[in-house]
Amino acid sequence: MCGIVGYIGQKEVVPILMEGLKRLEYRGYDSAGVAVLNNGRLNVIKRPGKIRDLERVVADSGLNGTLGIGHTRWATHGEPNEINAHPHCDCGQRIALIHNGIIENFSPLKKELQRQGHHFASDTDTEVLCHLIEMFYQDHSLEEAVRLALAEVKGTYGILVISRDEPEVMVAARNGSPLLIGVGNNEYFAASDAAAIIGYTRDVVYLDDGEMAILTRNSFQTKTITDQPVEKTIEQITFDLEQIEKAGFPHFMLKEIFEQPETIRTTMRGRLLADEGNVRLGGLLDHMDQLLKAKRMIFTACGTSWHAALIGEYVFEDMLRIPVEVEYASEFRYRRPVLDPETVVMVISQSGETADTLAAVREVKKYRYPVFGICNVVGSTIARETVAGVYLHVGPEIGVASTKAFTAQVAVLIMIAMMLARRKWMSAEEGRKIIREMQAIPEKIQRILDQDQIIQELAERYHTSRNFLYLGRGYNFPVALEGALKLKEISYIHAEGYPAAEMKHGPIALIDENMPVVFIAIQDQTYDKIISNIEEVKARRGRVIAVATEGDEKIREKVDHVIYVPSTLDFLSPLLTVIPLQLLAYHIAVLRGCNVDQPRNLAKSVTVE
Ligand code: G6P
Repeated sequence: MCGIVGYIGQKEVVPILMEGLKRLEYRGYDSAGVAVLNNGRLNVIKRPGKIRDLERVVADSGLNGTLGIGHTRWATHGEPNEINAHPHCDCGQRIALIHNGIIENFSPLKKELQRQGHHFASDTDTEVLCHLIEMFYQDHSLEEAVRLALAEVKGTYGILVISRDEPEVMVAARNGSPLLIGVGNNEYFAASDAAAIIGYTRDVVYLDDGEMAILTRNSFQTKTITDQPVEKTIEQITFDLEQIEKAGFPHFMLKEIFEQPETIRTTMRGRLLADEGNVRLGGLLDHMDQLLKAKRMIFTACGTSWHAALIGEYVFEDMLRIPVEVEYASEFRYRRPVLDPETVVMVISQSGETADTLAAVREVKKYRYPVFGICNVVGSTIARETVAGVYLHVGPEIGVASTKAFTAQVAVLIMIAMMLARRKWMSAEEGRKIIREMQAIPEKIQRILDQDQIIQELAERYHTSRNFLYLGRGYNFPVALEGALKLKEISYIHAEGYPAAEMKHGPIALIDENMPVVFIAIQDQTYDKIISNIEEVKARRGRVIAVATEGDEKIREKVDHVIYVPSTLDFLSPLLTVIPLQLLAYHIAVLRGCNVDQPRNLAKSVTVE
């Protein structure tokens, strides 16, 4: 959620913090702040709003130093104003602290600290940490005071702490919120996300829950929060700086939509064995017995990843004939899930940090059953805590509304199903046919992207609508959900996705000449049924936009607008049909003047419950 970055070394810290914050802004963008140590004073500057607002004030202030921390906030406790922005300080302004996560027992702690005379400046849960550390700092070092303070709190945190009295130290600690250390030459970085520091180093150490790091200008130490030393390995960041820049596109979201021919290729690269008609997913090979033995599967995820899981359910049940349940991670984690050795649980998460999905992983592990993961971010917590899994390999996704990760998740789920089906019943010939179709997907996506102008014109026509309905059947029912989610996320238009026939049980009451209805009406096995549903909408004067199969001229007579997608196998069609819906949402949001990459109230990676 929030983004955090810190630096200790020889260089001027302000540009490092500002650059880091800009790269982290997608994680939270309601307010931001920095604290820099200079001449024995902690200088704290914070502002509500965007990083560029903070940047102006920081530039005017002439702030400088070689030790500092910065934070971009997504509010949980306390409204997004200057006072609640991080960094927060203790009463004596000796320490400054930034925090990502939630201190759940902040209320009793705050009361007790206030009783002892501590004065609180903000409404945040975070500030209790500052005062707790202050209390212990009277008789202990900063490191020790942080440790003692953390022993008092319940909740999640990734924190960085600096002190005016220990100008050679920065303390980092993690429990439930991502935190990594960047290792440089006589300099160290700390950040919630590798994107913040990739301009300076590729060598990183990922902290695990219950761990802390003590950084000085020329060394770093990792320990548990209970003071046991821990050996960590230095890992390499695998993406490049260009991948987190806009490459000439006005928004990351548009860049990521247009990247999809390439990202789908990368997701499949080296994994499709065309000659054998088979799939090879290295990460799962050691677990094939368990996967093949499975009599039931549970997919769990949040948001767009949950929609990908729904498509996975349809594919797995059809190809493998085993029952699949798809659960919201936030529900699954509290439901005492019914598990057994023949049930396989798979979690799907672009970021690999979503708090509910991570909790679902831990819930399953409590019963000592293995969990598999489908993640994009290499080294993310879920990727590290699952027994095995498959990476998407689509590079960093920065736009808050997920696009390229969605198509890659669907492609990975299809590849897993294929790999298992080939071991179970699927012939090599059938496998080769599917693989040929999969290999053609990137070029087919490109053909849809080439129609961007048509979709833009549709957006111009409908961007003032107040409601949208998205309808689809079979494999494309989850795509209808995803199309509606994309639109509401970034344009703030109310949109609902429904299975097309289910429309008759409620949404049909909403239809009039002002209601645009987007139908995914490709020529698959549900085509005739969906045409009947289109008639039902037209009979009530709804405006119909159809996503149809190339060559289907007849549909033009029935609907107001058509966007064509190339034909493919039914279960691969979501990889194509979702593309126009992503573009439609994007253009509508731009025309409405919305901040596409940073939609209000949302965050890229939801690391709180
Ligand atoms: C947030 C993002 C969504 C994303 C969801 C799940 O809500 O805005 O785009 O689908 O989290 O994230 P994950 O990283 O677990 O896939």
